[in-house]
Amino acid sequence: PAAQPKAQLLAGVKLMLTAGPTREALDPVRFISNHSSGKMGFALAAAAKQLGADVTLVSGPVTLITPVGVTRVNVESAAQMHAAVMQEIAQQHIFIACAAVADYAPKVVSEHKIKKTQRDEMIIELTKNPDIVAEVAALTSKPFTVGFAAETQDLAHYAQDKLKRKKLDMIAANNVAALGQGFNSDNNALTVFWPNGHTELPLADKHQLATHLITLIAEKYHDTHR
Ligand code: CTP
Ligand code: CA
Repeated sequence: PAAQPKAQLLAGVKLMLTAGPTREALDPVRFISNHSSGKMGFALAAAAKQLGADVTLVSGPVTLITPVGVTRVNVESAAQMHAAVMQEIAQQHIFIACAAVADYAPKVVSEHKIKKTQRDEMIIELTKNPDIVAEVAALTSKPFTVGFAAETQDLAHYAQDKLKRKKLDMIAANNVAALGQGFNSDNNALTVFWPNGHTELPLADKHQLATHLITLIAEKYHDTHR
């Protein structure tokens, strides 16, 4: 028999995601960053597209291929990611913050390569970056806003705290300390929290997991717009 056409759960829905790490420059040749591969964000973008959404993917530097039909905006720093998101957010129905945004950036970016000196120690001053997902969730006409929480301990506690503090509609938490899941892995498991409930999405390939998570997000999005 012919394959069943996919239910177009997100037809006519504009969905924006952030993905990957950000890079915070120290000088023209150096930066502070993290191990995010962008795989989960790209898998979510592909899954959302499959459900019929109009998808914009704001991505930090990653080595992944853009899913077919997805509009990609490339950025490097948290400041650039913030600007790219804010420019288009008013048109979006759903926002998913999957990026591992650097929390801090060097206070000054040296115009020239920083030279080694006689001293054995070096101190770099950092300054806090804007919290993109919190800013989106604070908008008066906010999209359905989903965050991620990467934790190495007290997962439920920290995730529920972020859900509340950032006024998110949903948060997907993963234990990045567990072997073979999370950052830079092909497999992942998530615990998803919303204001009055939660569910477990067990360890799976990131593409399967993305389909499950996007379906859950689409259902909750439609629940809140009924
Ligand atoms: N996030 C964001 N902008 C930032 C920092 C984080 O949009 N400047 C988003 C992430 O994309 C994620 C969520 O906020 O969806 C939680 O990120 P996380 O790093 O787990 O939480 P933080 O609030 O930064 O707290 P901490 O790193 O101290 O755990
Ligand atoms: Ca953080």
